[in-house]
Amino acid sequence: MTSDGRLAGRRVVLGVSGGVAAYKSAVLARLLLSEGAEVRAVMTRAATDFLGPATLAALTGHPVVTSLVGHEGSVSPHTDLGRWAEVVVVAPATTATISRIAVGLSEDALSATVLATRAPLAVAPAMHTEMWEHPATQRAIATLTGDGVTIIGPESGALAGGDEGPGRMSEPETVLEAVVAMLAGGLGGTSILITAGGTREAIDPVRYIGNRSSGKMGHAIAEEAARRGAAVTLVTSSHLPSPGAVRRVQVESAQEMADAVASVDPDVAIMAAAVADFRPSTNHDAKLSRADGPPEIVLEPTPDILKTVADRVRRPFLVGFAAETGSLERAVEKARRKGVDVLVANDVSQPDAGFAVDTNRVTICWPDGRTEPWELAQKSVVAARILDLIERELGRTR
Ligand code: CTP
Repeated sequence: MTSDGRLAGRRVVLGVSGGVAAYKSAVLARLLLSEGAEVRAVMTRAATDFLGPATLAALTGHPVVTSLVGHEGSVSPHTDLGRWAEVVVVAPATTATISRIAVGLSEDALSATVLATRAPLAVAPAMHTEMWEHPATQRAIATLTGDGVTIIGPESGALAGGDEGPGRMSEPETVLEAVVAMLAGGLGGTSILITAGGTREAIDPVRYIGNRSSGKMGHAIAEEAARRGAAVTLVTSSHLPSPGAVRRVQVESAQEMADAVASVDPDVAIMAAAVADFRPSTNHDAKLSRADGPPEIVLEPTPDILKTVADRVRRPFLVGFAAETGSLERAVEKARRKGVDVLVANDVSQPDAGFAVDTNRVTICWPDGRTEPWELAQKSVVAARILDLIERELGRTR
């Protein structure tokens, strides 16, 4: 143990549910301890089939809670642990445990501890691909992210029984970094939804109507939000990478983006995507042929995703983006009309701002007409300033 690690004196509850990846939780416990954290472990009964509680007890120096009753020295181990924790991390998290947490079932010591805490929660799912991709699991994950739970991974790779695919638990080092971010950053326990990239609206199986957005700004915000410990859902059409502790939903069209956004109920929504306003009203099943002559493409409106979020009963703190070409007056008017808390406007006709470049020059527009031009900066710096602004505004309303 060290007293000068990044988690010196911080109180971490490590929850372990039943899966082969339970062996990784012993490594995670060691990493947490080597950063100076105090660690207490709680295991489901199934977890003890994979890893002996004696292992975690010896590593942490404390008895491991495996049951709600009969725990030495405590009549209510779940509330003791829940109140003691500064952060709870469940690694590995099986689909059963994830689903129990999502609906509030608390019949075992682990899920009861999670329900009995006000500390931020992270889960690192580990399961077979079929189970990870099952709609029931995905619904539960969407619920958890909306509740401010950080989802770490899973990654793609070797699974139990020689299988391969998405569902592998993130490495203990990745989980450790997420825990450090949750405790150090100003956004631990805050759920943030980010849209990114330009949508593609199909004409036929080969062609689409698209735009020049690369997704760089939205991905930079997702990365910075995760670094600050937020529970991030990134709904993106871009193929840029995203960090392990970001829940990523890959989409293509405005409709897919709207559907993905509808399933998340965040504290903050940052709509950085360049969503097509119109799509072809007919998506041809077969490739259109040159021999048939120029097609007539009739367009229809796409859903206004930002508006659906602005109209919610539980409305998040809402950040819109506006890509303009010329005067920013339109953006100021848009900030008022769109029902956002703040609008980030940029003039995409400038070579050093906007699409596919690493820098951006934005003007912050408030619905009351105030504007604040920011100097040219790397998109990562603009992302950090946007999150500083959000942290300030949330601090005001909390
Ligand atoms: N947006 C959205 N859904 C759409 C269109 C836009 O969520 N179907 C979001 C964008 O992600 C952005 C904001 O709305 O945050 C403004 O996008 P913009 O295209 O500038 O707005 P429009 O309403 O299309 O404005 P206009 O066409 O008048 O410029």
